[in-house]
Amino acid sequence: MTTSSSERGVSLGMPELPAPAYPDDVRTRLEADAREIISRYPDSRSALLPMLHLVQSEEGHVTRTGVRFCADVLGLTTAEVTAVATFYTMYRRKPSGDYQVGVCTNTLCAVMGGDAIFEELQEHLGVGNGETTDDGKVTLEHIECNAACDYAPVVMVNWEFFDNQTPDSAKRLVDDLRAGRPVSPTRGARLCTFKETARILAGFPDERPGAVEESGSAGPASLVGLRLAKGETAPARVVHPRDGGPHDEPQDRTAPQSSPAEHTSSHDAPQDTSASDPSHPAGPVAEEGE
Ligand code: FES
Repeated sequence: MTTSSSERGVSLGMPELPAPAYPDDVRTRLEADAREIISRYPDSRSALLPMLHLVQSEEGHVTRTGVRFCADVLGLTTAEVTAVATFYTMYRRKPSGDYQVGVCTNTLCAVMGGDAIFEELQEHLGVGNGETTDDGKVTLEHIECNAACDYAPVVMVNWEFFDNQTPDSAKRLVDDLRAGRPVSPTRGARLCTFKETARILAGFPDERPGAVEESGSAGPASLVGLRLAKGETAPARVVHPRDGGPHDEPQDRTAPQSSPAEHTSSHDAPQDTSASDPSHPAGPVAEEGE
């Protein structure tokens, strides 16, 4: 365990961040976890990112107490820890819901329906970007590209993928989350709460029975290039059902094509612009009270 600069008698001229201490039992438990995380790195300061996930797993967001704790155990200033915590959007700076519902509104997802999904979820949930429903279950957010463009438009819940969404499927998803009904991502392991996810991201094992095996691999649309490189014949088009998991479905090019008016897919209703929500701008959010 390292000591902070102030404990070493070194003054960096930085004001200390006022923060209540963790209860003794919590601090003892977190210190044991911190020792395990720090032992993975040759230099303790390299452990800052998983340490921030660790403190986030304790309180659901990175509090001043969490920042103070990270600074203490890593020998950093609170300013250094805060600079990192506010740079990455995976770290939350205010109390949030059990389920972080992120709608990708980056360019491709936006034109494929992401903007429409975000707008409808705002209205359906009665919250704006970065806001949480009254029951504390769902925090709605714009998110940037998550490298799942081949399944656009994508919604992520606690960083698990829900592919090829529509406004209706996304509304059913948040309704199920709020009602406590079981929800399965299109790919990856079953959902857990944001705090549980944060602990896994801190590098601790996912101890839910079968969860690791559920992680699966890349889906068909992502593997088309690999199949071509191997000399295999790729399907004419990879089509993803919106009410189930993705699958390969060769397109019948001789079949009559339906008219645009027959489509209900958001793919056929591109939006005018990418994310623009002036009343609830995306980006780092200050901790409440700051
Ligand atoms: S643009 Fe949405 S996942 Fe890439």
